[in-house]
Amino acid sequence: MIRKLFLFFIPIFVLGACKKDPLGNLEAISYAPQAFTMPEMPYFFQKMEIPADNPMTVDGVALGRFLFYDPILSADSTIACASCHRQETAFSNNLKVAVGIEGRVGTRNVPSLANVGFNTKGLLWDGRVKALEEVALRTIADPLEMDFSVQGVVERLQAHPDYPERFRKAFGIKDTEDISGEFLGKAIAQFLRTLVSYNSKYDYANWDRGAETKFFSESELRGKLLFTTEPAINPYDPHPGCSHCHNNTALVTTNEFLNNGLDPAMEPGDFPDPGLGGITLRPIDYGRFKAPTLRNIELTAPYMHDGRFQTLEQVLEHYSSGGHFSYNVDVNIIAFPMSEQDKQDLLAFLKSMTDEKFLQENAFGNPF
Ligand code: HEC
Ligand code: HEC
Repeated sequence: MIRKLFLFFIPIFVLGACKKDPLGNLEAISYAPQAFTMPEMPYFFQKMEIPADNPMTVDGVALGRFLFYDPILSADSTIACASCHRQETAFSNNLKVAVGIEGRVGTRNVPSLANVGFNTKGLLWDGRVKALEEVALRTIADPLEMDFSVQGVVERLQAHPDYPERFRKAFGIKDTEDISGEFLGKAIAQFLRTLVSYNSKYDYANWDRGAETKFFSESELRGKLLFTTEPAINPYDPHPGCSHCHNNTALVTTNEFLNNGLDPAMEPGDFPDPGLGGITLRPIDYGRFKAPTLRNIELTAPYMHDGRFQTLEQVLEHYSSGGHFSYNVDVNIIAFPMSEQDKQDLLAFLKSMTDEKFLQENAFGNPF
């Protein structure tokens, strides 16, 4: 009888020691941060800049992943980050524009998050957010996306059976009360920085110096040449010159804010969406949007900040036509002739950037 009682009490005692005490003190849970190691990237990738006040740790990334996939972040607990940013489409989706809580329709297309951690020039289509740490906080409060408050999320996380322990392990907080929007933003940013894409055929061809033909078909090679030939080399023989803006290195973008001729405009007010101009209010910046990465572009239709083009063929026809004239259209948007063969070659090259490994990587998937 005594032995039975003893066995009965031991598990309760042990469990009790691991759980937080009623006042929310978490110090009994060990905090032993372990640096997160990024995978070895090809030589043509720069080193990612990690803010000194948010070093990546194994538990920080794990917490960020839970938060990214958890609808607890939205007012009615229906929308997670992953509802719009879906792994199978490179963390974009196939809707024209974003659809948030209660089916509310936004104004902009959901961008892919592949290699977002390398972008230091400004986030979102208009660059209005500078740090990855801030993105989640903005999204939670956006009435068309999650329509909640950071404080509201923090209260839910504090009362949650698992999150206090996860925040303790990630940031060494001492009490559930210490869970904050700042730590939430930091954890999500850590997870976002792990979303690296570098395993497409395009990468292997670049990686293995001088051995392009081993990987690329003839059509892909011709497409690459078209993509990278600058229009200015011979003004009488215009070329696509895509790489001028989506430059032909690791990121397949300069991340610059440019006007690629989508809308006719004689003055700032003529642009349906002001883009960068809405932030800086400088006339030259209206209608300028971030040139996005073209990685996994095959999967992220529809295209452009407002999802106006359904197919890559339509995108190519836009560029080939020279687009619309506006007072600040980029000088590199020049009409160029495009044969059916050129079009197929460009398409083949663009599709060589699809990274199956990125789309299937378990570490990026839903942890629940
Ligand atoms: C309702 C759909 C939706 C949800 C939910 C959503 N996003 Fe987004 N996300 C978007 C759209 C649309 C944009 C572009 C917004 C703009 O430019 O105005 C964007 C942009 C971003 C960017 C910038 C990417 C770049 O290259 O500039 C990041 C990072 C991001 N979201 C992360 C998140 C995180 C983290 C969450 C969850 C806290 C989240 N998103 C939830 C639709 C969504
Ligand atoms: C002057 C710079 C510039 C040049 C040259 C250029 N682009 Fe772009 N590209 C952009 C910008 C800026 C955007 C985003 C525009 C927007 O959404 O408002 C964009 C968007 C795109 C998109 C849509 C991406 C997405 O995620 O929705 C594709 C695809 C694309 N470009 C392919 C090309 C190809 C192929 C070429 C060559 C034929 C090319 N671009 C030439 C600047 C440029």
